Amino acid sequence: MSQRKNKVEENLGDGRVVRFGVSVPADLLREFDETISQIGMKRSKAIRLAMRNFLADRNWQCKEGNVVGTINIIYNHETRGIDEYLTEIQHEYLDIVLSNTHIHLDKEHCILIIIVKGSAKRVKELLDRVSSKKGVKQVRTVVSPIG
Ligand code: NI
Repeated sequence: MSQRKNKVEENLGDGRVVRFGVSVPADLLREFDETISQIGMKRSKAIRLAMRNFLADRNWQCKEGNVVGTINIIYNHETRGIDEYLTEIQHEYLDIVLSNTHIHLDKEHCILIIIVKGSAKRVKELLDRVSSKKGVKQVRTVVSPIG
């Protein structure tokens, strides 16, 4: 039994294609199918792409070493203290914050793009602290490992 299992695991890296079943809410699947049909992509290809993007987005967070990239934060600037918080936290992370751009989107919302380079652990820490802050609507990262 365990010998068989090991054989299957060994084979997973050889480029072989496997099928698997997943459960998702019907409305999520409907929206997914509508979007991929608009861009002319098959479901399998879109799921492969989504999985690779997920891995690229997440893998750096569990690794040691250095990364480079951006943290894109959309927030409600009318939330009390948020602008001060987002400025002060960047001063706490001077070792990884290279620069930033702030754009006023509409009456309530701003996007802050922080350019980071350095310890993956520190970048993840900054990301977690910003993400949990009241008034922050969306946080997305484009981060890649470096040397
Ligand atoms: Ni603004």
